[in-house]
Amino acid sequence: MIILGIETSCDETALSLVESSGNLEHPKFKVLSTSLFSQTKLHEIHGGVVPMLAKREHQKNLIPLLKNLLEKANFSNPKSETQNSKQIEEIKKILEREQELALLFIEYIPTIEKPNVDAIAVTYGPGLEPALWVGVSFAKALSYIWNIPIIPVNHMEGHIVSPLFTAGTKIEFPALALLISGGHTELVLTEKWGEYKVIGKTRDDAVGEAFDKVARLLGLPYPGGPQISILAEKQRQSGIASTLALPRPMINSNDYDFSFSGLKTSVLYKLKEIGKPSEKNKEEIAREFEDAVTEVLVAKTKQAIEEFGPQSLIIAGGVSANSHIRKSFEKLAEEFPQTKLLIPGKELSTDNAIMIAGAGYINFLLKKESNSLKAEGNLQLG
Ligand code: KG4
Ligand code: ZN
Repeated sequence: MIILGIETSCDETALSLVESSGNLEHPKFKVLSTSLFSQTKLHEIHGGVVPMLAKREHQKNLIPLLKNLLEKANFSNPKSETQNSKQIEEIKKILEREQELALLFIEYIPTIEKPNVDAIAVTYGPGLEPALWVGVSFAKALSYIWNIPIIPVNHMEGHIVSPLFTAGTKIEFPALALLISGGHTELVLTEKWGEYKVIGKTRDDAVGEAFDKVARLLGLPYPGGPQISILAEKQRQSGIASTLALPRPMINSNDYDFSFSGLKTSVLYKLKEIGKPSEKNKEEIAREFEDAVTEVLVAKTKQAIEEFGPQSLIIAGGVSANSHIRKSFEKLAEEFPQTKLLIPGKELSTDNAIMIAGAGYINFLLKKESNSLKAEGNLQLG
C-alpha cells in the first residue's frame, strides 16, 4: 500500500510517499517521494520556535510541498476542474481554523485526479498544538476528498521506526530506544510494536533543548546542536587538553532519569567567570558540554542494556545526528555483541515525514485508524 506521511509537529513541514508492505515482523518500505521545508531560518531571529509562526508557515507550505511531492513521484494527473460546491463547503468547514491553507487547498486539489494513495499517516502529537492542528486538519481534508483513511501517528513512534529505512535493518524485540530530540529525552523499552514503556526521561530540559540553550549562551544561531558539534570537534582535533570541567548530572543516580538544565546553568556560570569568551573558550565549552551530555547518555543506556538485555538498541531523534554521540554509541555497542545498534541515517534523525509514514504502516497493521482525530500536544508513548 502507498501511504502519504504528514509531519507538522514543530518547525519542519514535511510530506512523504512511502510504499509499504510486509508484516509486523518484516515491514518493508520504499520511499517514492519526499518533500520537506525547514522553517529554522524564520525562527532563528526569535532564538527558538514560535508556535503561531510555525502554524502560519505550515499552512503556507503544505500545498506547494504536496504539489512537488506528487510531481516527483509522477502521481500528479491533471483533471478538468469540476467545481463541486458541496465538497468545497465541507473543506471550508474542516479547515475553518486554517483559512490560508483552505484557500490554497481549494485552488489546487480539484485540479488533480485522486493520486494512487491508500492511506494518510499524520503526526497528532506530541508537539506544538497549533502546528499539529495544521497537519491533522490537512489530513482530514484530504481524507474527505480522496475518501481514504487516516492513521494517527505518535511523533516519537516515528523516531523509533526511523532506523528501518536503512537497507537491511530489522528491529528485534525486546528493543531499547534512546529518544533524544528538541522536546524529548527518553529511554523506552518495547517488547513489541505498539507497546512502549518509558523507563526514564528528563526531569527538566531535553538534550536538544540544552544544546540549543547552550548554543544561545555562546552566541550561536538556532538550532544550536549542529553548531556546538562543529566547535566541539575543532577542540577535539586540536589535541589540546581542556582545563574546563562541567558536571555529569545524575550520572550515578541509579535510575534512568536525566536532568540537563543544571548543566546549562553551569555553562552560564563559566561564561560569567570568563567574561568575554574567546573563540578558544567557546570551543572548550562546546566540547566539554558535548562530552558531559554524551557520557550521561551512554552511562544510562549502558545500565539499561545490562538490566534488560535488549536485542536492539535504537538511538533516534534530532540529537542522534550528532557525530560524537553516534561514535560513542558505536563504541558502547562493541561491549554488547548480542544487542544490535540501530541509528537512522542523519537525514532521518531530524524531523521528517518518511518516519511518520513508516510508523503509520505499523499502526495500520495494528489496525489503528481514526477519522475523529485531535491534535494532542502532550501525547505520551504507551
Ligand atoms: O527530532 P528533532 O528534529 O525535533 C524534535 O522533535 O524536537 O530534534 C531537533 C533537535 C534540536 O534541538 C537540534 O539542536 C538537535 O535536534 N540537533 C542536534 C544535532 N542536529 C540536530 N544536536 C546535537 N548535534 C547535532 N548534530
Ligand atoms: Zn522529532
